[in-house]
Amino acid sequence: MPGLLCPPGQLLALVVLLLQPTGSLEVQCPIPHISNGQLKPAENFTSGSTATLECDPGYTALGATTVRCLASGRWYPRVPACTPGQCSSPPAVDHADLNHRHEFLVGTTLIYSCRHGFTLIPGVSPTTTCLNNFTWSAVPKLCQKVQCPIPVIPHGREISARKSEYTFGHQAEFHCDHGYVLKGSQRTQCSSDGTWRPPIPYCDRVCDPPPKISNGQHSALGTKQFPYGFEVKYTCMEGLSLIGDESIYCTSDNGENLTWSGPAPECRVVRCPKPVVERGRMTPQTFTFPYGVVLQFSCDEGFGLSGAPESQCQADGSWHPPVPTCQPVLCPQPRVACGRLQSPLDDKTWYQINETVTLGCAPGYQFSDDGNMSIEDSWTATCLPDGNWTPLPKCKKEGDADICEEVHYIKSAFECGLPVAEVKALLEIQKLFLEIKKLEVELEK
Ligand SMILES: *[C@@H]1O[C@H](CO)[C@@H](O)[C@H](O)[C@H]1NC(C)=O
Ligand SMILES: *[C@@H]1O[C@H](CO)[C@@H](O)[C@H](O)[C@H]1NC(C)=O
Ligand SMILES: *[C@@H]1O[C@H](CO)[C@@H](O)[C@H](O)[C@H]1NC(C)=O
Ligand SMILES: *[C@@H]1O[C@H](CO)[C@@H](O)[C@H](O)[C@H]1NC(C)=O
Ligand SMILES: *[C@@H]1O[C@H](CO)[C@@H](O)[C@H](O)[C@H]1NC(C)=O
Repeated sequence: MPGLLCPPGQLLALVVLLLQPTGSLEVQCPIPHISNGQLKPAENFTSGSTATLECDPGYTALGATTVRCLASGRWYPRVPACTPGQCSSPPAVDHADLNHRHEFLVGTTLIYSCRHGFTLIPGVSPTTTCLNNFTWSAVPKLCQKVQCPIPVIPHGREISARKSEYTFGHQAEFHCDHGYVLKGSQRTQCSSDGTWRPPIPYCDRVCDPPPKISNGQHSALGTKQFPYGFEVKYTCMEGLSLIGDESIYCTSDNGENLTWSGPAPECRVVRCPKPVVERGRMTPQTFTFPYGVVLQFSCDEGFGLSGAPESQCQADGSWHPPVPTCQPVLCPQPRVACGRLQSPLDDKTWYQINETVTLGCAPGYQFSDDGNMSIEDSWTATCLPDGNWTPLPKCKKEGDADICEEVHYIKSAFECGLPVAEVKALLEIQKLFLEIKKLEVELEK
């Protein structure tokens, strides 16, 4: 019997309850203790009455919300409980993601992050919170596309349609003004970090195409752009002479604009006249004398060049320096110390080649050949084709030949402009020499 298991007090109550006539004694259900909620109405829970469970804000009923007080004094279904409530999935926000979660209890705060290529709008809080009424706090517009600076390209322009703003993924294409060349990539794109990739190019100055010339051409045919330092070389049609600089360069005249280093050369027929050099020759031996050719001149034996030994054919068809002439070579009057001219006696300054003179020594002197005295009394010398004489004699005093030579040497030393110190030394030697001679003479006596 289950009743026998009950404590005696309760058993008594049950007996009293059963003995009461129906309706005369009201059965009451106990006021239950409910965390985070309460029943409505809150009292007079007689059997047969119903009550509704109301949870505190943020809590939700676990099980049924309406309960009935049974004649047995118990609640049916059993008094429910209130548990913390949850929000449903958080709202989706354009271009933003959430860290992934499954449970969203009241009070939970989530943080949004902008997707690749988007940035948080300044001043906006990227969060949402699960509220007591199980809804999420409102989320404003959070993310905007990343913006790149408006591309600026001096001396050039954007050939793609210009926009008021450039956001992630936008492309731009550029073109340089006339006289400029694009350095870098022609096309670029706004990247997710707000920079242009590849970087915006720049326009560098270039020269205009090099001038064309008639009867010749330049090395840059087919080249479209001529940056700083570009060299263009000109060539002429066969048989024509190139007058001017063979090459020109793209250079800067004033630091701003680029120009060619000079005018283009010309191609012309330039012939210099055949040079005529009487009594002379020229090398190389050619028959035509075009612009720029250089000739070397030399004279026949007995003739000397008067003028430059080299001449070049100029653009105007003349020779520069002028073609030289060959003049006969002459010998100067022979000079012999302590000697004199015997014939001819016309005292010429210049003598022609093959001309001969005879020389003698002054009285008291005789020819000397390196110490050997000669008994001859005349000496013949011939003017040579190189302007020199055949060897000239030396005259020495008979017996005292050395003195005359010595004096002559000192005289010529003066003429040569020897340093004074050296001349002084020579004079000292001469003085000594003369004193020795004097002593010798005195001893003989
Ligand atoms: C509860 O019931 C008693 C007796 O019937 C009554 O006097 C009292 O006013 C009731 N209380 C409420 C809150 O209804
Ligand atoms: C929930 O609560 C918030 C703040 O009290 C309120 O602004 C919002 O309108 C409520 N939402 C609903 C669906 O009742
Ligand atoms: C550079 O070239 C431009 C265009 O030809 C011209 O207008 C300008 O005066 C030039 N600048 C100088 C400093 O010569
Ligand atoms: C000088 O004499 C030589 C020999 O007789 C001769 O061959 C030469 O042509 C002469 N020179 C001149 C310039 O007369
Ligand atoms: C001087 O004369 C002698 C005899 O004639 C001769 O042997 C010698 O070579 C001559 N010296 C010179 C320098 O000519």
